[in-house]
Amino acid sequence: MKRRSAMAAAAVALLPVGLRAQAQQPIVLKFSHVVAADTPKGKGALRFKELAEKNTGGKVRVEVYPNSQLYKDGEELQMLQLGSVQMLAPSVSKFGPLGAREFELFDLPYLFDNYDELHKVTQGPIGQSLLKKLESKGILGLAFWDNGFKEMSSNKPLRTPADFRGQKLRIQSSKVLDSQMRALGATPQVMAFSEVYQALQTGVVDGTENPPSNLYTQKMHEVQKYLTLSDHGVIEYAVVVNKKFWDGLPPDIRAGLDSAMKEATKYADDIARQENEDALAKVRASGKTQIITLTADEKKAWKKALLKVHRDHEAQIGKDVIREIYKETGFDPDKL
Ligand code: LMR
Repeated sequence: MKRRSAMAAAAVALLPVGLRAQAQQPIVLKFSHVVAADTPKGKGALRFKELAEKNTGGKVRVEVYPNSQLYKDGEELQMLQLGSVQMLAPSVSKFGPLGAREFELFDLPYLFDNYDELHKVTQGPIGQSLLKKLESKGILGLAFWDNGFKEMSSNKPLRTPADFRGQKLRIQSSKVLDSQMRALGATPQVMAFSEVYQALQTGVVDGTENPPSNLYTQKMHEVQKYLTLSDHGVIEYAVVVNKKFWDGLPPDIRAGLDSAMKEATKYADDIARQENEDALAKVRASGKTQIITLTADEKKAWKKALLKVHRDHEAQIGKDVIREIYKETGFDPDKL
């Protein structure tokens, strides 16, 4: 009897996803990500799971794997394309190696002053056209999720561009971020997120950049003496699925997942700012990291040093797209 049910389960597993649903076996959707569960993205993923399972009456089971448990940066996108995992929410700064370097527009320093400006891009036609570019790679972009503004951390106080000289700083796999660190006089080093804590602890790199939620939940503040509230860039996510998997879902199930995604997106965006404020308060309270607030003049010096990065990446990102974003967000390079 036992053997017969095992054989039946094996036979069902071989069916296309649509038929599997009819055979009453839940469709398993693996959602992998690299940050802690207790972050804007981690919480958004869990909310999606709850809503997706409810909306589909249990016909879909969402398994969330946080903290690079399943795959690290780089690996996870390949595994999505191969169908070993069905959903991810990478920071858009990680799409470059896939051949979608246009996403690196989000890495242009000081392009966005606040979440409203960021939403003009993520929730407008530029965001939609970026997501479309992933389709030729077998990936469907469902939504953008916010994390927040990045701060610079190190074991040395970073107040002026001159302070960056000789610093080795971890970055994500983005050419724009590479230029950003070089424009400040630092040496960038690309590294998977899951390896950063140890690299900071052992001195392989001196520092890095993160929104406070990532810094705190990875305990990086325990191995970084200073955190400069520079707000020089953003971490933005794109929730992406394996296109073949998604297209193969029965329409009623896909509709249930679409609406779960809509609601989870709103939730993730609603909590992002507060999560980062709370994390910063915890870093401060820990007393382990000294927090540096820049004066208006100091911030101006950072902006001036970094403007070059915008110009240097016009060809990669598209001059027209950059101009369009300047118009949307009110960014004026002549006023720096
Ligand atoms: C990083 O690698 O620094 C971030 O992209 C991690 C994340 O997913 O927030």
